[in-house]
Amino acid sequence: MCGIAGYIGHKIADQVLIVALERLKYRGYDSAGMAVVRDGEIHLRKAAGKLKNLSERIEAQPVVGRCGIAHTRWATHGAPTETNCHPHLSTDGRIAVVHNGIIENHEVLRRELKDQGCIFASETDTEVIPHLISTLYDGDPVAAVRAAIARLDGQFAFAVVFADQADRIVAARKGSPLLVGRGKKEMLLASDVPALLPHAQEVMFLEDGHIADFNADEVRICSFDGAAVAPRFKPIEISADAVSKGDHDSFMSKEISEQPEVLLRLIESRLRAGRLVEPDLGLDLAEVNHIVFLACGTSWHAALLGKRFLEHLARVHVEVDISSEYRYRNPIASGGTLVVAISQSGETADTLAGLRLARAKFIPVVGLVNVVTSTIARESNGVMPLMAGPEIGVASTKAYTAQIMALYLFALQVARAKGLLSQPEEARAIVSARAIVEHAARTLAECEDPVAEAADIFTSADATVFLGRGGEHPTALEGALKLKEIAYVHAIGYPAGEFKHGPIALVTRQLPVICIVPRDAMYEKMLSNLQEVRARSGRIITVGQAGDRSLADLSDHVFPVRMAPDDLLQPILSILPLQRYAYHVARRRDCDVDQPRNLAKSVTVE
Ligand code: G6P
Repeated sequence: MCGIAGYIGHKIADQVLIVALERLKYRGYDSAGMAVVRDGEIHLRKAAGKLKNLSERIEAQPVVGRCGIAHTRWATHGAPTETNCHPHLSTDGRIAVVHNGIIENHEVLRRELKDQGCIFASETDTEVIPHLISTLYDGDPVAAVRAAIARLDGQFAFAVVFADQADRIVAARKGSPLLVGRGKKEMLLASDVPALLPHAQEVMFLEDGHIADFNADEVRICSFDGAAVAPRFKPIEISADAVSKGDHDSFMSKEISEQPEVLLRLIESRLRAGRLVEPDLGLDLAEVNHIVFLACGTSWHAALLGKRFLEHLARVHVEVDISSEYRYRNPIASGGTLVVAISQSGETADTLAGLRLARAKFIPVVGLVNVVTSTIARESNGVMPLMAGPEIGVASTKAYTAQIMALYLFALQVARAKGLLSQPEEARAIVSARAIVEHAARTLAECEDPVAEAADIFTSADATVFLGRGGEHPTALEGALKLKEIAYVHAIGYPAGEFKHGPIALVTRQLPVICIVPRDAMYEKMLSNLQEVRARSGRIITVGQAGDRSLADLSDHVFPVRMAPDDLLQPILSILPLQRYAYHVARRRDCDVDQPRNLAKSVTVE
């Protein structure tokens, strides 16, 4: 959690750092702060609440300096107050630190440091770091940082500036991401690539167990035990445009609209000469007979669909595990097992821990990630990239539909490796996948007015139920999650056939019940479930085929969706109006759709 940024160069540091924080605020946004070194002193600016509060403070009290570090916070230890917000200072104010992660032994260290005379200002675990460094500092910043790290338990990425080192930032990584960006006579530091733009042209991903010590011209890397490491930069491939809102009012809205092009890019990336390419995962898919999906949140919903695809197409036994549960079990490692870690960010701590547990048991792991430079990608035996481009809105949209498509294509690849997919079947499946691109574009256009109209009517509904069967059960879960996440409406997703076993007691004249009813094998069963809700006077919204009279007769509102040629792929289309619905309800309730309260995009703490 939290975003870190740093800058040294010829530009005014606070201006560069505010833009960097803007790009990192998806990692946390409950408070923000900055420390700039100038004239042998550290100048601190902090503000609780959204980043604009910090910008306003800096505008009122500018600090013109060329070297600084900054932070946007998602609170773990201590409330999101100005005092708890980073950077944190040593007692003499000569050392400032920003940190992402958790220092697990902070209480012991705090007691020890207090005994040595350190005065603590905040309730955070982070504050032990500047105090610890200051007790060990004798003019050599790297030596002090290395000695401090030897005392820290837990995971971290942190950056330090020293009042007497006007042109130097020292940063260290153990478990949380940290990148150094190189521009022309300027050097940047950040938790993620977009925050390095547009100043840096090259990036270096700091490895776990490494320290970076840099000025505007040069970076030196060493391991925690002091051994020098050659820095390896590579060109930055994303453009500043990819991380802007374009013509949209929010990243979420932009990312929803990008889905057709994302799906096309993904499908094309998995094909060569019209056939599915053999994925380069370092394992023989024909030998896989048991797959475990690990994921959290939206990625877990995609995993539920992955299970359907693999069971149906490749006849492989699949388990779907919530990462935070898997990591504390004692999973069985048998030959032929494959773990697939699904994560948009590739940084989710629980999924990463599950991956490490699997690897410790010698189970091969494939990462299905959007961020190919992420920790999960680097620690997996093989990687399947989502190709969705940067997803900035906290609520995942384009990464979700890309995950579903990627899992479908993966299931086809496994089926083919096992001799269960003939060439004509493969060709038909590719045609079906490609058709989704056009259907997605049409669905987004055609559902917009009915969705906005229903959002007008149900803006004040304080609860909503989503029902679906088969492949649309995950759609119901995901539709409910979107509404909870960004509109703060209590919502549940339920398998429609199970609804009568209890939750149907919730139905009143006020309750909107959103039923996902495509023309698939479950259609008739869903109509019966709709009748059950109707008989109890619930307000019915259906997601279904335009012009379906039976549906229209039973529904107060219909969100039209195109029908996928292959039922397995229908959930990619069915979720689209529900993403737009959550967006519209949130806007009408004056919610910040890109930065919902209490959430962060990548949860790098347990
Ligand atoms: C956070 C986000 C969710 C996301 C989940 C998993 O909780 O708020 O929107 O689905 O993390 O993220 P991942 O990057 O692992 O897919």
